[in-house]
Amino acid sequence: MSALGTALPTALPEPRTPDPVMAPALRWGVMGTGWIVERFVAAVRAGTRQRVTAIGSRSGDRARAAAQRLGVERTWGSRAELVADPAVDVVYVATGHADHLAGALAALEAGKPVLVEKPLALDAAQGQRIADAARSAGVFCAEALWSSYLPRWDVVRQLLDDGTLGAVSAVDADLGEHFDPGHRVFDSEQHGGPLLDLATYPLALATWVLGEVTAATATGVPHASGVLGQVGAVLQHGEALSSVHTTLLGDTPTTAHVVGERATLRLPGPFYASGDVVLVPAGGSGARPTPVVRREPETGHAGLHWQAAEVARCVDAGLTETPLRSLDASLATLRALDAVQAAVHGVAAQ
Ligand SMILES: NC(=O)c1ccc[n+]([C@@H]2O[C@H](COP(=O)([O-])OP(=O)(O)OC[C@H]3O[C@@H](n4cnc5c(N)ncnc54)[C@H](OP(=O)(O)O)[C@@H]3O)[C@@H](O)[C@H]2O)c1
Repeated sequence: MSALGTALPTALPEPRTPDPVMAPALRWGVMGTGWIVERFVAAVRAGTRQRVTAIGSRSGDRARAAAQRLGVERTWGSRAELVADPAVDVVYVATGHADHLAGALAALEAGKPVLVEKPLALDAAQGQRIADAARSAGVFCAEALWSSYLPRWDVVRQLLDDGTLGAVSAVDADLGEHFDPGHRVFDSEQHGGPLLDLATYPLALATWVLGEVTAATATGVPHASGVLGQVGAVLQHGEALSSVHTTLLGDTPTTAHVVGERATLRLPGPFYASGDVVLVPAGGSGARPTPVVRREPETGHAGLHWQAAEVARCVDAGLTETPLRSLDASLATLRALDAVQAAVHGVAAQ
């Protein structure tokens, strides 16, 4: 029994996520040749029937080198050629943050469905341009916030939808990672810092669970490279609060909690990838309630295929967005990122 006297489930729901192998096989054109591309290609090959048929880069030589490394047949030295390729059904924009807008617009103008790496764009204004272009063209568009597509997050979705937690008052989440000097996250010209690369995940969770940010307090510590090294933020979402810590300076537990009146949900780290879901009944002071746990192996970036399968199902069904990560949800995350940026700069200016 919970503290409020109502029985909580004795087992957590099973994810409703369809078998990714059964998703219709689409031909993917990948824009970008970097770190995430290697992991995406490996994951979709291992876990789906999706085919990566083409790769595009700002340089023909880099496209050919990446294609050889990854075993991809067709290469293009420009985004215009990649999106026009008749052997490409769907485009995956996996370039640096600054290039998401141009990549997404190019795909949409060519009438190609597009999956855009997180964050959808540099800010909410850019994100809105992508959403407007997708909606006016009637072409599928989604953000590759891969957590949203995981079976683990579908367990959370069901617990939120069926009211198991009761009134939810708070979300806390941290995401800190060590990066070697020289990594692009320390390059201000590539919009480095912990916000766009890392805080996207806790803010996506907070805005998904609690809704739009209505007020923000945040502070940041500059790194010698010129970008922010770490940021802490407390955000208000109507009557609820979220707290987020994100850093480039070292590894943090990467855990998340969703705090409800009847129970608290724990997502042991990394909360944004596959792993356990733990429901802890509200116990009151001194009580030690028994948690209800759903175990799931941690598979890290091997879970990047779930998003590709969802895109394939949606495109095949003629949908222009996925309910798992709507463009409005991506825009709410971008507005939260904008609010944190503004709050950090307000504090720094004092
Ligand atoms: N889902 C995840 O877990 C995850 C993890 C890491 C990164 N990401 C996201 O994926 C994106 C790429 O990250 P990454 O780590 O793969 O970066 P990366 O290794 O630096 O690769 C970025 C690629 O983007 C291409 N590019 C095109 N225009 C660019 C521009 N104006 N600035 C920078 N690069 C440009 C480059 O390819 P060419 O030079 O060949 O054109 C480069 O290979 C980021 O938006 C990041 O947030 C997601």
